Amino acid sequence: MRLIKQLIGVFAVLGVVIGVLMIFTYDVIKIDWVSFMEIQPSYSNQEQPLAVPAQSIPVEGPAYIPGEGVPSNPVPSDEVSIARGAELYSIHCQMCHGDAGQGNGTISAFLVKKKPADLTSDLVQSKTDGSMFLTISNGIFNPNNSLFPDVEFSGQMPPLNENLTVRERWDVVNFLRTLNATQQ
Ligand code: HEC
Repeated sequence: MRLIKQLIGVFAVLGVVIGVLMIFTYDVIKIDWVSFMEIQPSYSNQEQPLAVPAQSIPVEGPAYIPGEGVPSNPVPSDEVSIARGAELYSIHCQMCHGDAGQGNGTISAFLVKKKPADLTSDLVQSKTDGSMFLTISNGIFNPNNSLFPDVEFSGQMPPLNENLTVRERWDVVNFLRTLNATQQ
């Protein structure tokens, strides 16, 4: 008999303890617990992403080292690279720069202020591979853009570093060189 009474006592105490805990678990009494997910740098929808921390390097290795001048092309211009470049060009560039790179893509009609560059022109072809690489990576920046003052590109040419990996950008550069060759 005594044992049963003791057991009932133990269960009663346990019940009360669990009951009290449940009040907080089910937010009957709300406590603003410290949530570690909240304590971190984050950005919401449509907000500009945070700047990359200084000195950080992408997983693929540095695309180029700021202050060291234009990078040099590490990807040999072989058939594979050019074929990949052509494929990527048709996805990421053709709508503005046109089938043959002459700056007459479908979207170019809507770019009133500045037409896409003619990639077959001497002006563009005389640029170094590294310069083209930087154009693809960073886009073309217009400081006088009143429409989107806090957006880094002007809508002339967007930075494509998020669309194309470093290797892919060099493949596109290798392809751009063939645009001139086919012209002559
Ligand atoms: C939204 C349209 C658009 C897309 C997409 C685009 N470009 Fe451009 N690009 C432009 C415009 C517009 C210019 C001319 C800007 C200027 O002269 O200020 C330009 C200029 C260039 C130039 C000349 C840069 C210079 O230094 O004069 C190169 C090279 C180039 N684009 C390559 C590319 C490649 C490669 C891609 C794809 C990976 C691409 N572009 C995608 C619009 C675009």
